[in-house]
Amino acid sequence: MPKPSNPNPILPPDFDCIKVVHSFEELASTPFGYGVNAFCWPRVLDGDFAEVVEKIGLGDGITLLDESFLQGLQVSQAGYVAINEMLQDERLLSGLGLDPVLNCIHAYPSDDHGATISTDVYSFHADSAPLQSETWLCTYFGASSEAIRNEEAVRHVDIPKTRAHLLKLYGGQDDEGFYEFLSENCYDLHYSALPHAEPYSFGIANLWRIAVQYPGSPVQPCIHRAPRTNSPRLLLIS
Ligand SMILES: [Fe+2]
Repeated sequence: MPKPSNPNPILPPDFDCIKVVHSFEELASTPFGYGVNAFCWPRVLDGDFAEVVEKIGLGDGITLLDESFLQGLQVSQAGYVAINEMLQDERLLSGLGLDPVLNCIHAYPSDDHGATISTDVYSFHADSAPLQSETWLCTYFGASSEAIRNEEAVRHVDIPKTRAHLLKLYGGQDDEGFYEFLSENCYDLHYSALPHAEPYSFGIANLWRIAVQYPGSPVQPCIHRAPRTNSPRLLLIS
């Protein structure tokens, strides 16, 4: 039976920094480059992910969903399908030598205490790594992550007022030591959206592969953030 068209209301068009692909193989094998720093494989999944979340139950923070835990949940056939779809994705990524995890996220740690720069995942940020790396993401249920084009954002540390504030906090000169201070505190990885910015949603069930900041990366990192929500989310991340 043909699958219905993708129900995601905000599926990004195939242009500029985002490229839509049509299979897992294409998603896994297409290199970042030519300004493309986000690949999306749009999907419609059949399982009942709401039921899985309901059976996981209440919690706080992040619940790691390993295979035995998921398979131990008492679910209907539709919930069983959802669990298998999640585990299948986990296997696909593991098959690439990655280390994916499935999570039910009730809340992430938040920095809401008047920090000069918020460095939690609710803030637009780039993932970073010392070596070649990439981030994979899929939201199966709940509010999805979102991203922003590089030209629509500016690093907080490049905003003069914020930089001056950080220099004061550092208590020194704008020198090598200050760069290390910014890096150690991850201040240099967080961004402010420009007024005209139009963030795009990763949508539900779509599998994304996004660029990470690392030495020698051929593209700028994909700037993204987690949604602020009080409702649980089901997520695959690697
Ligand atoms: Fe991230």
